[in-house]
Amino acid sequence: MASPSSIKSIRDLEISGKTVFMRVDFNVPLSGPDSSGEYHVEDDNRIREALPTIKYAIEKGAKIILASHLGRPDGQRKPELSLSPCAHKLAEMLGQEVTLADDCVGEGIELMAKSLKNGQVLLLENLRFHAEEEENDPGFAAKLARLGQVYVTDAFGTAHRKHASTYGVPVLLQNRGMGFLIEKELKYLDPLLTEPKKPFYAILGGAKVTDKIKTIESLMRKVDGILIGGAMGHAFWMAEGQTVPSGAKQPKPADVEAAKAILRDARKRELPILLPSDTNQGFDIGPETIKKFGQFVSNAKTLFWNGPLGWFEKPEYATGTFELAKTIAELKAVKVIGGGDTVSAIKASGVAENYDHLSTGGGAVLEYLEGKGLPGIEILKMTTRQQATEQKPL
Ligand code: 3PG
Repeated sequence: MASPSSIKSIRDLEISGKTVFMRVDFNVPLSGPDSSGEYHVEDDNRIREALPTIKYAIEKGAKIILASHLGRPDGQRKPELSLSPCAHKLAEMLGQEVTLADDCVGEGIELMAKSLKNGQVLLLENLRFHAEEEENDPGFAAKLARLGQVYVTDAFGTAHRKHASTYGVPVLLQNRGMGFLIEKELKYLDPLLTEPKKPFYAILGGAKVTDKIKTIESLMRKVDGILIGGAMGHAFWMAEGQTVPSGAKQPKPADVEAAKAILRDARKRELPILLPSDTNQGFDIGPETIKKFGQFVSNAKTLFWNGPLGWFEKPEYATGTFELAKTIAELKAVKVIGGGDTVSAIKASGVAENYDHLSTGGGAVLEYLEGKGLPGIEILKMTTRQQATEQKPL
């Protein structure tokens, strides 16, 4: 991976009076429909995090076209996945009008784009209403690229997807760079791979080991210890020949095998892997584990946490996650959280402001920490020549 400094920031781009095609990640949880059939943004974190870049572009007098996906409509036009609730939320947050287009490509949309005035904001309808978005179809990317003169991405949460709006469009719009959100993500995530302050510990929870195995393998080369909790801990218990309480989530054989491989590798590296030693009915870590985990991380200088340690949405099983969140909040360490559920858990624990970075990425953070670079970010670093080589058929 090239250094993030080889990527242009929106500050380096001439955007005044220009039409900026800005890829954002407004893939947010919705609630509804209400009695009038309307959906509402349930968690506006991703929209809020994109505000500094959008506001900057408005202040600079750019004409702003925002593009995002929402959910997985698989190329179908699904009204319940319209970006309309996001347009309302954004307008409320910006205190100015945000027009929602009824599609994202086509003549009508091009006309709307052309009639934008400096400082105005147009939000395109869900990109994934067109199957060509996820296929990174060159024709579709060309239609999107026709809308703007400058490409800016702030969609960190989608940067691991090689789609038309995240990859095909910046291939075509060479005047391209990142927004402040991606800049902030890289500022905190890059040092985890390159120069983490030691000791560096990772706390991993959630359900499937197989989903995270590549990230764990990569992290094992960087960290000084890994703490495992959540349903994921069950796979590690079984890998060590222990049983999982009946009624609790039983791991899949593939997850147990993945856990065995990780434990073998950790033994070779003499890397401590801490598993829960007690449990609250298999839905939370028990008091002994909370204490043990808290003591282990007490000398941390860097911490990365992905995956809640229990079923924190249920108050009776939230203690492990919340107590450890509070203990960590007091540490003088760089504290980075990845994954939507984990961010929600830290916020619900009431100590989020003591954390350095709550990433907007879920899958994107995990893939970033695998160390192989994300397509939506790598494309911003490529020279025209590298780009041409990349695109040659094999
Ligand atoms: C996410 O929420 O992780 C991103 O918006 C990407 O969504 P996807 O997993 O549907 O591609």
